[in-house]
Amino acid sequence: MNAPAAAPPLLRAEHVSQRFGAVPSLDDVSFDVPAGLVTCLLGDNGAGKSTLIKVLSGVFPPTRGRLLLDGREVRFGSPRAALAHGIATVYQDLALIPLLGVWRNFFLGTEPVRGRGPARRLDVARGRATALAELDALGIPLTDPEQPVATLSGGQRQAIAIARALLRGARVLILDEPTAALGAAQRGLVLELVRTVKARGVGVVLITHDPAQADAVADRRVVLERGRVVS
Ligand SMILES: Nc1ncnc2c1ncn2[C@@H]1O[C@H](COP(=O)(O)OP(=O)(O)OP(=O)(O)O)[C@@H](O)[C@H]1O
Ligand SMILES: [Mg+2]
Repeated sequence: MNAPAAAPPLLRAEHVSQRFGAVPSLDDVSFDVPAGLVTCLLGDNGAGKSTLIKVLSGVFPPTRGRLLLDGREVRFGSPRAALAHGIATVYQDLALIPLLGVWRNFFLGTEPVRGRGPARRLDVARGRATALAELDALGIPLTDPEQPVATLSGGQRQAIAIARALLRGARVLILDEPTAALGAAQRGLVLELVRTVKARGVGVVLITHDPAQADAVADRRVVLERGRVVS
């Protein structure tokens, strides 16, 4: 009896190479992102981690190789196009607006509205309630939707950036060193959040320098060294 063919991974980079000058930043890298698992991407400074996620998230096309989403080849012309396909990246700067409140940062451009034409208004009550409910569901209980994000902890800020990616339909969530600037307690909060996101079936890619962090959450790990996958 034949074994059933394995389902293709959610996202796959196949034989991807990227070079900016003489030295390749990525050299024939193949990398899978399965749904519902955390894949840790490890490697020293300059190993090619950020370059790989920029290829996955549409910042630039690979010099060679291809991307497959659900087994079908895709080309992303921009990060916006990648996001439209469900591939979201949260960079270290989080792209939050410090003086704006929690709920505005949660939506940032996709706020709910009510009314039509000249009577169109932000639906503030619904927006506030939705933002707090979604954050609560991610294990981040907040009480004041107008609290400026500048006054939140680092872990809470991460949570808002991640919640926003989920709101926009992320199926693949790429986190570039999400805990680099955090203390131990905040780091624990973010790792717990990663587990919650994974339990929703999202394929998480976690970039880290820290093997202990990979031990805490990784289902799979990929180590890059000078642009090549070494394990
Ligand atoms: N836009 C670019 N132009 C030229 N070279 C680049 C560019 N982006 C990355 N590189 C080079 O590609 C290599 C890999 O860089 P990359 O940023 O992917 O490493 P990294 O693993 O993310 O490192 P770090 O841990 O320091 O963030 C480095 O040698 C870097 O100098
Ligand atoms: Mg990097």
